[in-house]
Amino acid sequence: MQLHQFLIRENSSWAMTHAREAVRAARGPGLSFHAGPIGGLIYVVVLVTLVFGPDNSAIGYAPEQPVPYSHQVHAGDLDIDCRYCHNTVEQGAKALIPPAATCMNCHTTILPESEKLAPVRRSFETGEPIRWVRVHDLPDFVYFDHSAHLNAGVGCVSCHGRIDRMEVVRQDKPLNMAWCLECHRNPAGEIVPREAVTELAHARDPEFGEVLVDEYDLTPAVDCSTCHR
Ligand code: HEC
Ligand code: HEC
Ligand code: HEC
Ligand code: HEC
Ligand code: HEC
Repeated sequence: MQLHQFLIRENSSWAMTHAREAVRAARGPGLSFHAGPIGGLIYVVVLVTLVFGPDNSAIGYAPEQPVPYSHQVHAGDLDIDCRYCHNTVEQGAKALIPPAATCMNCHTTILPESEKLAPVRRSFETGEPIRWVRVHDLPDFVYFDHSAHLNAGVGCVSCHGRIDRMEVVRQDKPLNMAWCLECHRNPAGEIVPREAVTELAHARDPEFGEVLVDEYDLTPAVDCSTCHR
């Protein structure tokens, strides 16, 4: 058994419990760990665990939804812009799921009798929200903000893949810490012009990306308090 596997098996829950405390402690001024040699040890264990740890990501997770809504049909074939439905994504941390009223803009006249749309009509009439099953879900101790990324020219496709080709939404990227950090350390290959963030087929090119990194003055932070506050 290799060292990191041992550390993961023997120390994982212990290290994580203490690491969360360390993260909280590190939010103070200076961002350094003040816990002395023990803190240093925990820090090393945590980094080893995170860097070499098992890939506990949920790539491919695609729960069944209460309505067979298809992004392939709406965002692909019909080419409706993401922001028509996820209209808070550029201003806020969260990209809200649209209410039934947004769907009924079209479905009062398009397929008004469809059985598949019965829960949408019911929700529209009663005001009772549709119970969509969450696909992407970071732990509560991680801070994430959509608007910061979209304003920096990071498009939906970098983190969600080709949603416009998905009948059922599935998680396309690991969404773990190593993955976040990889781009924060070297974002150029993922940056597109701001006005193209919802064009999933837009070319991404590291050289042009560098130009945009300069133009937008991007310096994604990698200190702990950026994402754990
Ligand atoms: C016509 C409305 C509509 C449009 C347009 C639309 N979406 Fe969605 N989106 C939804 C609905 C409804 C859900 C919740 C059901 C589901 O997960 O399929 C959703 C779910 C999602 C989710 C998963 C949310 C979760 O639970 O984690 C992502 C990611 C997403 N959309 C991205 C996009 C992207 C990217 C685009 C543009 C390419 C887009 N959407 C266009 C309505 C829309
Ligand atoms: C801009 C118009 C528009 C909006 C907004 C829209 N749809 Fe649609 N939807 C369509 C069209 C057009 C079709 C038919 C596509 C086809 O059959 O080729 C369709 C088809 C569907 C179907 C398949 C129904 C069947 O019987 O085959 C479902 C389910 C559906 N939409 C759900 C939704 C939901 C849920 C929302 C809101 C999140 C939504 N739609 C918003 C235009 C829209
Ligand atoms: C830098 C990566 C990144 C980009 C770019 C990104 N997302 Fe997300 N998205 C995420 C993560 C991570 C989550 C889970 C957030 C959580 O659990 O708090 C998420 C969650 C969502 C959700 C579920 C609701 C929510 O906010 O938790 C929707 C809908 C969504 N994204 C749509 C979009 C759309 C549309 C775009 C492009 C306009 C986009 N995302 C761009 C990473 C990204
Ligand atoms: C594909 C590239 C990419 C990925 C993946 C990515 N980021 Fe970022 N992130 C950026 C860029 C670029 C910025 C903007 C930096 C700037 O404005 O200088 C940023 C900024 C941020 C900010 C700063 C927001 C603020 O309020 O200052 C936070 C927080 C953040 N990212 C968290 C995350 C988390 C958490 C993940 C993983 C779930 C993640 N990011 C994944 C590229 C990325
Ligand atoms: C760019 C964003 C980002 C930065 C910077 C960051 N983290 Fe994280 N961290 C995450 C995300 C996302 C997760 C959740 C990973 C998952 O769910 O697999 C996480 C999880 C963790 C966990 C819990 C692991 C687990 O499996 O429960 C610890 C501990 C942690 N981070 C410590 C740190 C420390 C210490 C630093 C500074 C050296 C740091 N993080 C910097 C995004 C970040």
